[in-house]
Amino acid sequence: MNKDIVCIGAGYIGGPTMAVIAKMNPDRKVIVVDINEKRIAAWNSADFDLPIYEPGLVDVVREVRGKNLFFSTDIEAAVKECDIIFVGVNTPTKMFGKGAGRASDLQYWESTARNIKAWANGPKIVVEKSTLPVRTAAAMEAILNAQDARSEVKVEGQGQQRNFTVLSNPEFLAEGTAIKDLMNPDRVLIGGPQDAQGQAAVDAVVEIYEGAAKNWVPREKILTTNVWSAELTKLAANAFLAQRVSSINAIAGLCEATGADVDEVAKVMGADHRIGPKFLKAGPGFGGSCFKKDVLNLVYLCESFGLHTAAEYWHEVIKMNDHQQERIVSRLFKAMFNTLANKKIAIFGFAFKADTGDTRETPAGTVVRLLHDEHVRLAITDPKALANAKKDLADLIEEDISTGGSDSRIFKQAPIEFTEDEYAAARDADAIVVMTDWCHYPTLDWARLYASMRKPALVFDTRNCLDSAALKGLGFKVLQTGK
Ligand code: NAD
Ligand code: UGA
Repeated sequence: MNKDIVCIGAGYIGGPTMAVIAKMNPDRKVIVVDINEKRIAAWNSADFDLPIYEPGLVDVVREVRGKNLFFSTDIEAAVKECDIIFVGVNTPTKMFGKGAGRASDLQYWESTARNIKAWANGPKIVVEKSTLPVRTAAAMEAILNAQDARSEVKVEGQGQQRNFTVLSNPEFLAEGTAIKDLMNPDRVLIGGPQDAQGQAAVDAVVEIYEGAAKNWVPREKILTTNVWSAELTKLAANAFLAQRVSSINAIAGLCEATGADVDEVAKVMGADHRIGPKFLKAGPGFGGSCFKKDVLNLVYLCESFGLHTAAEYWHEVIKMNDHQQERIVSRLFKAMFNTLANKKIAIFGFAFKADTGDTRETPAGTVVRLLHDEHVRLAITDPKALANAKKDLADLIEEDISTGGSDSRIFKQAPIEFTEDEYAAARDADAIVVMTDWCHYPTLDWARLYASMRKPALVFDTRNCLDSAALKGLGFKVLQTGK
């Protein structure tokens, strides 16, 4: 077997993970492949205009691209060339048929498995990088090792061997801190079959994460388990994190009703080392491509195994999250004299969190749609996510007939404006709603913003990232989460 690596799927997970693997393993060739030609062209772009924004990513790609990291659409050639195949294709929530709205849609995974089987020219280690339901590896093994002339090989001295060994190596990086998380992970998890061939495959992947010079992940942080534990750990870890966010948001509502301050409550709770301070920030609810889909997947798995009470428990985490966004709109409604029609609201931040351009499942999307239903005139500003915001809201857009190519578009019910300029977004607005905690928002000239708005001017800081006393001093009416 050779040491070269192909990763199928050049998305948020495949791109950054493989860039760092290539950096830390200069002795290996790493090829990232995808069916999406535009995405691969962006990864290969001469000016490093990469398809995703992630702090520090461009530096790593500059360092290794063309040396030992390559991006390509020739999946067949890469599968033939490399004996270690990572699969990082998307696994969205299934929107049709059995399990619709909950189960994982595994069609991309299965078609990848069938391609690997068709193109492989010898034994391969197949590594699940995508987040998958427990026991997916069994299905993949069944497809890959389905009996035919090529499904088994004889290795001298070892008798019959499986042609494909499927491992689970889920990824725990968070967007916005991907490079930091990859360079210094809390742990790396590798699940493999509990036989000699499985353990040899696990060792081969452990070697990657140790780095060529044994200078990457310390061995004690590389945890190995059976495949099912690895698959389930990933879902469980995301569900626990999502559950903490929903729990603190449930407390936030109570704080608003009672005069307690959620940041104070969280700080003191988090000082207990058994609870810990992380993931206790109340806000607009969690977004991102994974929390909702992975919790729903857990719900589906619990239901499938007849564990209905457990399924209901995890489903409440999602319901609480949806409720948090509905609450933002009802609080705005109340604070703005029970009518929002034709008022202008500036949305500060559309990304699901700071330091990313990703808008998948962003709470801002839900809030914008609810406000649009109320015939609000919306202005959306974000430093990195405007292109995605426009795509996400495309169904709301009618032809741009009146503006002759400017960036504001005509909407069915009320116009939505997209601008990188926060001051333009706030001009003549009745309210600013801060949906993403971009670090420059507190440093904006809030006196200037106030002066340009209609009065009374409201700021709803859903992330509690602004100085509310200073804002009140300027004349703003201020709403926060959990206060
Ligand atoms: P993504 O949509 O950004 O990227 C997936 C890529 O796979 C796309 O570019 C798509 O074109 C490609 N693809 C789909 N089918 C293909 C095929 N048959 N052959 C070749 N390429 C194909 O998704 P992502 O955010 O990178 O997530 C991928 C997986 O990683 C998901 O299971 C997700 O849950 C998991 N994950 C994501 C993150 C994250 O931060 N985004 C973190 C941990 C785990
Ligand atoms: C999350 C996990 O943190 C990663 O470990 C995991 O690998 C990843 O999902 C995945 O599987 O995709 P990510 O979604 O990128 O990472 O970002 P997080 O930092 O976890 O934030 C998720 C959402 O929760 C964001 O909308 C964030 O604003 C929100 N959040 C987070 C809060 O509202 N409060 C908090 O205290 C923490």
